[in-house]
Amino acid sequence: MATATGTPHIPVSPRSNRLPLEIPGPIARTRWGRLKAMSRFSRDSVALGNELFRKHGPVVSIVRGGGTRLFTPWKKDCPGSVLVRGPELLKEVATKHDTYHKFHLSGVLHPYGDTSERTAPLRVFASGLFGVNGDDHRRQRKMMAPAFIPNRVATYADAMIEVTERMTSNWQVGQTFDIAVEMRELAREIASVCLFGESLEDGGTELTAGVQTGLALVSNPLVRLFPYDLPGLPYRKLLEVSEIAYRRAQGVIARRRAEPDKADDVLSMLLKARDETDGAALTEDELIGHVNVLFAAGHETSANALTWTCFLLSQHPEIYADLVEELQSELNGETARPSDFERLPLLDRVIKESMRIITPVPWNGRVLAQDAELGGFELPVGTEVMGSIYHTHHMPEIFAEPERFQPSRFSDHHYTGYEYNPFSAGQRICIGAGFAMQEIKIVLSHLLQKFQLEFIPERPIDRQGTIVIIPKQGMLMRTRPTGENYARGVGTVAGNVRDMVELPT
Ligand code: HEM
Repeated sequence: MATATGTPHIPVSPRSNRLPLEIPGPIARTRWGRLKAMSRFSRDSVALGNELFRKHGPVVSIVRGGGTRLFTPWKKDCPGSVLVRGPELLKEVATKHDTYHKFHLSGVLHPYGDTSERTAPLRVFASGLFGVNGDDHRRQRKMMAPAFIPNRVATYADAMIEVTERMTSNWQVGQTFDIAVEMRELAREIASVCLFGESLEDGGTELTAGVQTGLALVSNPLVRLFPYDLPGLPYRKLLEVSEIAYRRAQGVIARRRAEPDKADDVLSMLLKARDETDGAALTEDELIGHVNVLFAAGHETSANALTWTCFLLSQHPEIYADLVEELQSELNGETARPSDFERLPLLDRVIKESMRIITPVPWNGRVLAQDAELGGFELPVGTEVMGSIYHTHHMPEIFAEPERFQPSRFSDHHYTGYEYNPFSAGQRICIGAGFAMQEIKIVLSHLLQKFQLEFIPERPIDRQGTIVIIPKQGMLMRTRPTGENYARGVGTVAGNVRDMVELPT
């Protein structure tokens, strides 16, 4: 096993915890009370944010006085967890790159300071750009950037179209699907082909078993409570799964290395990338971390954006009909290509409004690498700050009638990058934003011209997740011929999605 480099690059200050965390928030006098606050965040961070921002203002501690830890691995050096919302605060957090640091997606379970062979794969697991800060982040981001510039992203369109058409070719009118599952599989295949140059259907490496299972385990409260490498405990499973993710990523990298002339996928470009100052390539562990993160960040997010957009259209028949008309008149049954996008303004607005109202990535997490002042409060080094993109997107001062699905707001008004912020902004703005928008447009332009999607109200639509918002019980939809009757299934939705978006009854 290669030596892991996945240690957070955050200087732990000896002055850590010197300042008390004096931020408004609910009181919890016992350890149990603090655990309950943390578990409320994991269970339904949207509802918790709604309540705390309303009661305490835009900078709020999940427990007054601190003593909570949601995602930082700094066991002793986390004074507490603070939630913030609003464009000015999001900007402050996103642009002070050397003050607000990020962590591996393995979060609280990251084996910080542990250098054993056993935990080496977990130290690399889901690191990538998330696991580096400061100059290291600047260096690696620069090396990755050429694979995501607009001209380059446009070259992935053929593969995106091929996968979309192939994977939906056996769909028939009258079938009922869990659209969340279908969109995940589609986005996973697009990610595998465009990012790593191999189709899962042709025996490409299935990274899901390692990466997705690992990320699900990271959020499992039992792993947090018993982080011990003992038989039967889920932490041991996490170690095993991170090793699987490590080995599978190694396999993908080895196959790309064996084809040095191949240059049509992101990983092939990363293998060729060199640091502009010393000419060094990315190390094996850095590459493995990037493969994990690109795979996870590159398909779960787009899959959910697609699922929620289909859902919102299914409940807004007039917008749905207008969109199908735009697609049919401009594309005549063909799947959209990047050169068509300019002629599809409603498609663009529908996607933007969908990502505003059901923000695919609701929170943007950071940890303070030094003491800082934020929104008039002193925050000590080590404090976790969760910037809420979701709650900013629902501020009535910025978005009139924020719970109304109203794509036209994007033609009437220009929003700044921190008011409308689904991909974040600043030095860490989502590197795959252009990739994701292109993919979502291609998939929707194809699907919506072939089928009308009717919502089936067999299950409530409840939200789940803090990293991405997913429909907890999935989402059933039936395929109908396009143009049949866009009002079918409208007004039949139950579940707490109704407090995110106004839906017909
Ligand atoms: C609808 C789809 C997507 C959404 C909503 C989304 C959103 C985000 C957000 C909010 C961040 C955090 C930025 C920050 O820390 O300030 C992020 C980071 C990131 N995203 Fe995405 N993303 C999406 C799709 C993708 C895709 C398709 C890829 C790759 C192909 C990708 C790769 C990444 C990476 C590598 C980062 C870390 C960037 C850094 O720290 O420098 N994302 N994304």
